[in-house]
Amino acid sequence: MAKNYRIALLPGDGIGKEVVPQAVRVLEAAANDFTLGFESFEWGCEYYLRTGRMMPPDGLEQLRPFDAILLGAIGHPSVPDHISLRDLLLRIRFSFDLYVNLRPVEILPGIEPPLRGKTADDINMLFVRENSEGEYCGMGGRFKAGTPDEVAVQQSVFTRKGVERVMRYAFEQARHRPRKCLASATKSNAMQYTMVMWDEVLRAVARDYPDVAVSNYHVDALAARMITHPESLDVVVGSNLFADILTDLGAALQGSLGLASSANLNPAEHLGPPMFEPVHGSAPDIEGRGVANPIAAISTSALMMEHLGEPEAGRRILEALKEVTGEETVRTPDLGGKNTTQEFASAVIQKL
Ligand code: NAD
Ligand code: IPM
Ligand code: MN
Repeated sequence: MAKNYRIALLPGDGIGKEVVPQAVRVLEAAANDFTLGFESFEWGCEYYLRTGRMMPPDGLEQLRPFDAILLGAIGHPSVPDHISLRDLLLRIRFSFDLYVNLRPVEILPGIEPPLRGKTADDINMLFVRENSEGEYCGMGGRFKAGTPDEVAVQQSVFTRKGVERVMRYAFEQARHRPRKCLASATKSNAMQYTMVMWDEVLRAVARDYPDVAVSNYHVDALAARMITHPESLDVVVGSNLFADILTDLGAALQGSLGLASSANLNPAEHLGPPMFEPVHGSAPDIEGRGVANPIAAISTSALMMEHLGEPEAGRRILEALKEVTGEETVRTPDLGGKNTTQEFASAVIQKL
């Protein structure tokens, strides 16, 4: 009997609700020797305005039986971002301990990288973002709020276990890529506790990977290096906040935020399903117009199939996607075209 995968859909808000249905159409077209069962959860800012919650009290339990979660984007100007994102997106990442956030940065055929003189051969990075602690741990508070004496404290928490496991994952990725290079994003010149430990763990784990060439860059210099010498970067490991920022820069290097894909994984143990999501947000500035670029959501779906154990399906989706971009005819406005989200997805489906 054909294998069936159960996918929880969390389209979320804004353009999340526009790109996820298109990614689902592509997934359905790519599924030939297995089946996909989708269930959609309408959790997000509208749900919050109705119920006072971003997800039901047993939301995590509802998600747990699925094989994967495909999320669009969360966030709408009607709800403070720290509520919508912390209570839904970050809650899932943290509760299921999805400690690796994998974010490839590659140039698609037919899409001219915005950096003058650089080609697809020069820009091919894989970001491994720490996704379970660090600057996002959420510890802290506000004292004497609203008064002139107000104090706000936002703690970072870096655990040796948390840093070591994400670094090991990054080294494994580097080891299996042709160039076998790993760069780490640090800031140990200014942050003498967290980032000094980060560097120590990097050096300790590196001893187990003598075949991987390691570089350690301060995050500010690394940001500049992504522009000046992208060809020198292969796998990049960074903390939750640093790699969040660097991967939007990575998406810009690809040509648009509408292109970048990501996977939230726990490669060591199963506390809940992995979650797949585009790097971009809900883009309130273009929502409702049907012109969001679905490439990020579609390539994220390819990542999902690869991680579900259907690499052939993932490859088929990516090849169809690349055929369409390579022809340079069907494009959404962020890439200078005039096509809609749906038209682009239909072009991919036609190739499939
Ligand atoms: P954003 O990524 O939503 O948008 C930044 C810019 O990129 C906008 O000009 C937008 O139009 C453009 N853009 C993004 N995705 C695009 C696509 N697929 N096609 C074409 N253009 C695209 O970032 P933001 O404006 O900082 O955030 C908007 C909201 O999304 C906020 O509420 C934020 O907290 C949230 N957010 C959510 C996620 C997530 O759920 N994973 C990620 C990032 C931001
Ligand atoms: C991302 C987003 C999220 C993050 C926000 C929306 C909390 O920017 O996935 O890159 O910072 O992780
Ligand atoms: Mn981000």
